[in-house]
Amino acid sequence: MINTGMGDAGTKSAQGLDTHKKIWAIGGGKGGVGKSMVTANISICMALMGYKVIAVDLDLGGANLHTCLGLPIPELTLSDYVSKKVTRFEDLLVKTPIPNLMIISGAQDEIGIANLKHMHKNKIINKLHEMNADYILFDLGAGTSFNTVDFFIAADKGILVSLPEPTSIENTYRFIKTVYYRRLKMLEGFLDIEPLINQAMNAKLSSANSSPSEMIRKVIEINPQMGMRLRQEIARFQPSLILNQVRSQADIDIGFSIQSVCRRYFGIEVDYLGYLDHDPAVWQSVKKRKPLLMEFPNSKLVHHFDRIVHRLLGVS
Ligand SMILES: Nc1ncnc2c1ncn2[C@@H]1O[C@H](COP(=O)(O)OP(=O)(O)OP(=O)(O)O)[C@@H](O)[C@H]1O
Ligand SMILES: [Mg+2]
Repeated sequence: MINTGMGDAGTKSAQGLDTHKKIWAIGGGKGGVGKSMVTANISICMALMGYKVIAVDLDLGGANLHTCLGLPIPELTLSDYVSKKVTRFEDLLVKTPIPNLMIISGAQDEIGIANLKHMHKNKIINKLHEMNADYILFDLGAGTSFNTVDFFIAADKGILVSLPEPTSIENTYRFIKTVYYRRLKMLEGFLDIEPLINQAMNAKLSSANSSPSEMIRKVIEINPQMGMRLRQEIARFQPSLILNQVRSQADIDIGFSIQSVCRRYFGIEVDYLGYLDHDPAVWQSVKKRKPLLMEFPNSKLVHHFDRIVHRLLGVS
């Protein structure tokens, strides 16, 4: 059951102060793995707990977060803001039937995330930071385009959704690699170590002596100051992971394998938040255009979401 009392995370703020605000991005390389379903249901869980939540559909070009929340296509979307049809960002906020939960919808036209100009992306990120909410959740689209990765990096916490299948796992590693590389590229002095980083980025996941974590060791030897900067930046990159559509204990354990590959290869700590069962209730609720948690409040998935949200809030 969803706990309707406030957790002791202490982030609820009547004024929605910036210092309390948390932005979580839900992404992962592959399409159709359940990113929107996860964003919608985590948002509902949090809103029912009393937090003021805004769910933002950043899957420009394939926006469907509203469907997972049981809403019709919103009238105003981010594309209206980008095209200046709407000038006040707050006007994009759409109420949902769930108290405390609002949504900002993605584009319904051909504006793809890849086409979003750098300037627009930064403006959207800045505007979202100014929003009055306790938590803001980004539903990202599939793929590893610059813009998708930058929205993931702009969040306080990045949550990866993966299926326990080889294609999805490969995409998860590819997504992590792209984010990792982009973060390092933003560092001052990157050009001095670029060849070494490029070499490491091309290394196979199984290769121990040319992996990114080995590359950092080499940089520390050659240029200790830069090496420490790299190490600090990498320590700050701690993506979380949710395995969706699991059917067995072996599927659940894949999360731990991903964790250990990332530790060994990238030298990063992945926080395995938990798993969600494969459950026909998901497509039944999508078909009915009703949010899963509201339509099937007694399903096992509700307990899974409850556990994941408590992990996210740091109260379990
Ligand atoms: N745990 C689950 N059990 C059963 N089916 C699921 C589960 N999670 C997701 N699905 C199915 O997968 C479909 C795709 O989910 P969703 O739209 O959330 O994926 P997505 O990652 O957001 O996709 P896209 O990359 O296209 O935005 C859902 O409509 C649902 O039918
Ligand atoms: Mg989606």
